[in-house]
Amino acid sequence: MIMVKVITYGTYDLFHYGHQRLLERAKALGDYLIVGVTSDSFDLTRGKINAQQSLMERIESVRRTGLADEIIVEEYEGQKIDDIRRYDIDIFTVGSDWRGKFDYLSEFCKVVYLDRTEGISSSELRAEKRVLRIGLVGESIVLNKFVRESQYVNGVKISGIYTLDSSKLSDKIKKEYCITSDYDSLLDLSDAIYVVSHPSRHYSQIMVALNKDKHVLCESPITLDYQELSRLRELAKKRNLILMDSLKTAYCTAYSRLVLLAKSGRIGDVVSVDATCTSLQNVGADLSNVWNSICAWGPTAMLPIFQMLGTNYDKKQIISRFVEPDFDIFSKISFVYPHAVASLKVGKGVKSEGELIVSGTNGYIYVPAPWWKTDYFELRYENPLDNRRYFYQLEGEGIRMMILVFAKAVEHHSSNKYLNDDISAAIVSVMQDFYSANQLIKI
Ligand code: CTP
Repeated sequence: MIMVKVITYGTYDLFHYGHQRLLERAKALGDYLIVGVTSDSFDLTRGKINAQQSLMERIESVRRTGLADEIIVEEYEGQKIDDIRRYDIDIFTVGSDWRGKFDYLSEFCKVVYLDRTEGISSSELRAEKRVLRIGLVGESIVLNKFVRESQYVNGVKISGIYTLDSSKLSDKIKKEYCITSDYDSLLDLSDAIYVVSHPSRHYSQIMVALNKDKHVLCESPITLDYQELSRLRELAKKRNLILMDSLKTAYCTAYSRLVLLAKSGRIGDVVSVDATCTSLQNVGADLSNVWNSICAWGPTAMLPIFQMLGTNYDKKQIISRFVEPDFDIFSKISFVYPHAVASLKVGKGVKSEGELIVSGTNGYIYVPAPWWKTDYFELRYENPLDNRRYFYQLEGEGIRMMILVFAKAVEHHSSNKYLNDDISAAIVSVMQDFYSANQLIKI
């Protein structure tokens, strides 16, 4: 007897009756059923970042039905054709909501659309959950991106914007959202806030928000003083609130993969991490609301250093050039570790190549500019034939994933796996040294 092999794909978030019925009928089409569960990153490219459950949880739901003879993960565009060939598939099937979309596969096997079960979907189940109302705080152009990206994340809604200067907000946002200069009124409308105001205001704004029982997502550096950060963390803990660092790069897939590869020894021992971030900006006129180089770029440039080499360096030196007492147009920081070194260069008034290079005893990782929002990097070795290139589609500069991680943290009180508290604290320590001119050389 010839075995008929069937394959089907889906997200299977919050597993429901419609999924069960689909799998039963898919199984009945043949003798052997393979279920492809869509990975988080692949889902992202379809705009479905909103899966409430992790990939492992979703695989587990499918496994529990006992209907799948084999479960695979769908990770990339075009994988279906590869799978059909590799597993020698006879029938490809999905629900009728996809009718016509997969006709192109009929070149490789039979395509069957099964009637979708009426009246139930993961989207509806997710929508029944409580919506997290996020209020935005600040004057930055990033607010426009945050609003846009929040629309891709299920279960969050922007409740309004508190700002001292709305000139950077798009006309559309000004029209559609409540813009206020009354901080308390924004807090009253919100369950959580996203803070991207000038770093000198973070501490007092976060303090007020936590005291009103609001969760906080804050642009790095969270504060400019270590004691202040500790006080905020204690308060958040006491009140059972989330206080999360929103350093965007930490939430980019390509970036987190390269950190993993470096840590897993793919380039041998990491001996040097060198990161440069610059964005030339007119640093004349009024600088009171403008982020200086160390605040605007320092946290991002420190991220790979602290994630790959740890936060326990022996020595550091900060060298900065200033245009005003607290405004550096360029800073260079060197860190010395027991068996490694690191350096960063950041500038708002100086331009350079924004690359990241991680040097190891066997090879190096090269990330082209702008590395902080990269989708691409290379592992390079003495013998170029050994070189490897990696590409991971980046949606929304990491902001989309960051909002999702924050919303999940609020819901489940889970810890942040992308960026741990030690790193945010080490960043704040460097800020404090900069502002107190400790280990600082002015040029
Ligand atoms: N499906 C179905 N009946 C439903 C819901 C889903 O037959 N009521 C099928 C889909 O057509 C697909 C499979 O189950 O073949 C997996 O669907 P998935 O996209 O994971 O579930 P949905 O509930 O459709 O998710 P969403 O609401 O996020 O689109």
